Amino acid sequence: MNAPLAPPLKWAGGKRWQVPHIKPLWDAARATRLVEPFCGGLSVALGLQPERALLNDVNPHLMNFYRWLQCGGLGVIPNENEREAFERHRDRFNELALADRHSSESAALFYYLNKTGFNGLCRFNSKGKFNVPFGKRNTVNYELDWPAYKVQLSKWAFSCLDFSELRLEEGDFVYADPPYDVEFTTYSAGGFSWADQVRTVEWLARHRLGLD
Ligand SMILES: C[S@@+](CC[C@H](N)C(=O)[O-])C[C@H]1O[C@@H](n2cnc3c(N)ncnc32)[C@H](O)[C@@H]1O
Repeated sequence: MNAPLAPPLKWAGGKRWQVPHIKPLWDAARATRLVEPFCGGLSVALGLQPERALLNDVNPHLMNFYRWLQCGGLGVIPNENEREAFERHRDRFNELALADRHSSESAALFYYLNKTGFNGLCRFNSKGKFNVPFGKRNTVNYELDWPAYKVQLSKWAFSCLDFSELRLEEGDFVYADPPYDVEFTTYSAGGFSWADQVRTVEWLARHRLGLD
């Protein structure tokens, strides 16, 4: 097993710290597929390094970023940690969100905004515009070259669906980390209500582990 790659983005609710606790369970199930219905910042998949994985998240910008990392075609936005550059890039990202949100440029801007915006937040206003302010960080840990991520991510399948649309196979090892039941649930348009929490539990309870 190679040294795990660090999650490429800062992501609210990231579970890198849980990997040592999940790993003994995963090691016992190694031959199976890892499924993450709410993969967010990818910290669990990158920590466990499965051969087979289905990684899903409803946030289309996040999944667009991973797909460009996977094919090695991510655009390059220089690391300019200044308010004026940040606001210009945010405007361009919002323009592309309407016109060409699947593009490599949109993915590169998403990375830039994640790194230089406030706390790595991903928040949209009611008109669907990304509205996170400039982060004012002293230093920004910024990647421009991604070959190791291409190799790792090319083994895995990605989708951008509501979790309930995923087709689980018997024996899948499912790691489910839905948004918390708190006011802050702004990862994506629509939020995540109490009814969604109930849907999640019911959906997970239907999954067969293939142990019997
Ligand atoms: C707590 S975060 C997951 C964090 C992840 N485990 C990590 O380590 O970075 C929850 C994720 O659920 C996603 N999400 C919210 N509603 C969803 C839905 N209906 N279906 C799939 N994903 C959803 C959010 O976009 C967010 O990335």
